[in-house]
Amino acid sequence: MLFLNKDAIQKIDQNSIQTAVEQAYRLVLSQNYNMPDRMHVADNQNILLLMPCFSEKFFSTKLVSVFPEAQQHGQPAVNGVMVLSDNVSGQPLAVMDGAAVTAQRTGAVGGLGVKLLTPETVRAAGVLGAGVQGLSQARYLLFNRKIKTLYIYDLYKESAINMTRVLKKEYPDVDYVITENANQLVENSSVIIAATTSSNPLFETTPDGVMGKIFISIGSFRPDMQEFPDTVIETADDVFVDTLFAAKESGDIATPLKKHVITKNKIKEFAGLLGKNTYPENRTVFFKSVGMALFDLTVSSAIYQLAVKNNIGQALDF
Ligand SMILES: NC(=O)c1ccc[n+]([C@@H]2O[C@H](COP(=O)([O-])OP(=O)(O)OC[C@H]3O[C@@H](n4cnc5c(N)ncnc54)[C@H](O)[C@@H]3O)[C@@H](O)[C@H]2O)c1
Repeated sequence: MLFLNKDAIQKIDQNSIQTAVEQAYRLVLSQNYNMPDRMHVADNQNILLLMPCFSEKFFSTKLVSVFPEAQQHGQPAVNGVMVLSDNVSGQPLAVMDGAAVTAQRTGAVGGLGVKLLTPETVRAAGVLGAGVQGLSQARYLLFNRKIKTLYIYDLYKESAINMTRVLKKEYPDVDYVITENANQLVENSSVIIAATTSSNPLFETTPDGVMGKIFISIGSFRPDMQEFPDTVIETADDVFVDTLFAAKESGDIATPLKKHVITKNKIKEFAGLLGKNTYPENRTVFFKSVGMALFDLTVSSAIYQLAVKNNIGQALDF
């Protein structure tokens, strides 16, 4: 059995991870997988998610916890363990750092959103939330598009400064601007990605303020959490979700549905975009991701196969 820690997982290239996310969407289209709704176990404000999934060759289980207040103690909100097993013999193949797998695959979910929904000419983008997912979103955004100015906003300025420091080493030609508030970031960006633990919309806007922009929401994963004001989804020409479960799970979709701001038929599965070359320009788009075990399965199996091929990780026996 292979043990893969954060350093080992970070050796796997972004292109392979994003291709594995694309593979997950292909499985959605072919329906050739077995994935129950993930189980949420709540303990006050903290949550444990149990995320199993089976494909033809592999099955995986991620145990991931979200402790929204961990940031106040300088700790990441998301932690976990990922187990990948063989779907013929049932043998466990690998144990991985679940937080690192999550950050990579979630970055790639946003990255594929950027690739399929935004014009290649986009130059100004913004990331709301400078935590683990915010950094990963920025990395995959910059991997997919030649961004000239990246706006960053976080409740804690220190987090935004740290994120800028990391990104500057990897993408020194980008201008990084830390904004004073979320409104300023949205006004200046044509692509806005939010990856926060916020329960309330991060900014205020009008239909004119959102028209023609692409919004990607990574954060809210409970009905009582919302990152974007209703105006965004109401004004959007197109609304996509990574899984239809998002309509139940995330306040970014569930709340406007409940308030009849939108109807269910406005919500489309992102998988339907695969195979389409370019997305029409000047449309207002909202893409909501809550994540799914199928991403973890395809990404962890790609990581495992590349790790075996390139001698990455540590072999362990039970
Ligand atoms: N869509 C998915 O597949 C997926 C996967 C993993 C995590 N998530 C979710 O993404 C969110 C972020 O996760 P993380 O691992 O980056 O957490 P984190 O604690 O590392 O970072 C969250 C950041 O958001 C900032 N923040 C919180 N409220 C804010 C506000 N109102 N305005 C600006 N910034 C604010 C915090 O200061 C922090 O820096 C969580 O809700 C998590 O559950 C989603």
